[in-house]
Amino acid sequence: MSQTPTTPSTIIDLIKISKTYHPDIQALADISLHVCQGEIIFLTGASGAGKTTLRRLISRIEKPTKGMIEVAGLDLAKLPRNKIHLLRRKVGTAYQDFKLLSDRTVADNIAIAMEVMYRPSSYIEHRTRTLLDQLDLVKKYSTRAGDLSRGEQQRVAIARAVANNPEIVLADEPTGNLDAETTARVMALFHQLNRQGTTLLIATHDRTLFEGTSHRVIELRFGKIRSAANESPENSDELIGELEEDLISQESEQ
Ligand SMILES: Nc1ncnc2c1ncn2[C@@H]1O[C@H](COP(=O)(O)OP(=O)(O)OP(=O)(O)O)[C@@H](O)[C@H]1O
Ligand SMILES: [Mg+2]
Repeated sequence: MSQTPTTPSTIIDLIKISKTYHPDIQALADISLHVCQGEIIFLTGASGAGKTTLRRLISRIEKPTKGMIEVAGLDLAKLPRNKIHLLRRKVGTAYQDFKLLSDRTVADNIAIAMEVMYRPSSYIEHRTRTLLDQLDLVKKYSTRAGDLSRGEQQRVAIARAVANNPEIVLADEPTGNLDAETTARVMALFHQLNRQGTTLLIATHDRTLFEGTSHRVIELRFGKIRSAANESPENSDELIGELEEDLISQESEQ
């Protein structure tokens, strides 16, 4: 079968998204973002800037107040409750607050993600051990998650998010509790997944994760996109548009 080369397709498409919480907290305002398949994209910005809110909208934990979201070909506004599992299969999430089952073992917490996909138990055990090895946690295989340090819990949450090799990984502050060496292990795992085609959206305060890389960096400030460092050419039109708008408003102020 011959295939003509194409530009990478958009896998996460946010069009003019706003999210307002009761009564009038504007967490996100007019966000448009197109994430290409196979991209690693960093979402940064101060505490309260809207990173987790954006992540929650992409995972359809919440709905936007305005705007359209499409993830892996699914229009989230039209996705009925009984079809949300289709999205969950495509998106693995490492939560900022981990969301582990504290009374279950480390291995159980990771296995759960694969059990719901009916993976054979031999596969589940092998995959769990491989991930724990990559994240330097093998010795905690049978430990209760509630007995782990925060940095250890964070790595279990990451292992669970990636266990099924989802098309998209959303990692919310994935290295916030980790030392430099363990951070490097997490990033090595993310890059390995990315080489296999996974798209990653990583929300982080840690500039060392993206400084010196060629990956796109989207900075949120008060719920708006402030800048897109390392901008890829396909979004340069948007940037130019924003600059033009800025110049026009500066002129009208003079
Ligand atoms: N359920 C909610 N109800 C009301 N306000 C909320 C809710 N969730 C978030 N917010 C507000 O929305 C804004 C964005 O919060 P969000 O959690 O997205 O920030 P963040 O960038 O992830 O911050 P951090 O770096 O601290 O994790 C904040 O002002 C927050 O207080
Ligand atoms: Mg957050």
